[in-house]
Amino acid sequence: MRVSILTRSIDWASLPARALRAANQRYFVLTCITSLLAVLPIAILGWDAANKSLGPNPLERLLRAPGRWALILLLIVLLATPLRRVLTHVMRKTGIRYGRRLADWNWMIRLRRPLGLASFFYAVIHVGWYVWLDLRFNWDELIRDLSNKPYIVAGMAAFLLLAPLAVTSTDGWMRRLKRNWKRLHFLIYPAAILAVLHFVWLSKEGVRDPYDYALALAVLLGYRIVALWLRLPEIMESPGGEAVDGGVRVGATERRDSNVGELS
Ligand code: HEM
Repeated sequence: MRVSILTRSIDWASLPARALRAANQRYFVLTCITSLLAVLPIAILGWDAANKSLGPNPLERLLRAPGRWALILLLIVLLATPLRRVLTHVMRKTGIRYGRRLADWNWMIRLRRPLGLASFFYAVIHVGWYVWLDLRFNWDELIRDLSNKPYIVAGMAAFLLLAPLAVTSTDGWMRRLKRNWKRLHFLIYPAAILAVLHFVWLSKEGVRDPYDYALALAVLLGYRIVALWLRLPEIMESPGGEAVDGGVRVGATERRDSNVGELS
């Protein structure tokens, strides 16, 4: 379908395909947009704090909101790989012309790095505010919390697992660690499990919210296990691996075989 606007004509039918191509080619722009969106929740929190409209329990909101966003972003990172595969499958089955190759959705895989960093950013704020606003830097209190509250232990463990992933997320560390980089970044799975446990354990009985997150994580991990069992090639890609033109960049090398046979 072509529509003429003055002298220019827009081919509406090819717009989605062009948008996908642009997303794959303009990674920097996409990263900037994603990063801006990812900092929106903290900007809103800051705005509400400045206007003294944090609600009836400001401390609780300040502490809990970043924790919630850290977890949401972590789950989005884990969603990228299965979603890419499902979308490719749907496009093929429905005969839609665009998005039929895994490589068409590479931008999703590449966005995992900024999203993962955003998740860690929120975790740092969450933990920082806990130590500052809740504990008032009383380290004895922290030791007491760690020995009395299992949910604090789970949160701390999740945080300690996420920290090396954030530090080593640069291209330099990818090159230095080579294959070990992939191994290291599998820590995202225990980190996500511990973060969900943290949420479940801290919540009052009867609150459904944390179980929704637990279910989402179970589905995402279930996908990984089934894919591993069916030996889907892409499962060999680590959650932080970066897809490049239908392959996966691991350290300084590009493994182009990961999506071999995916082109239809
Ligand atoms: C040293 C590490 C951590 C400590 C000490 C900690 C501590 C806390 C505390 C004190 C609360 C509020 C409990 C309450 O209000 O009764 C909380 C809530 C929460 N934390 Fe953490 N946390 C840690 C790490 C993490 C990490 C790494 C994540 C996620 C990746 C996370 C996700 C959450 C979530 C989702 C909530 C509940 C938010 C809500 O109810 O909306 N926490 N955490």
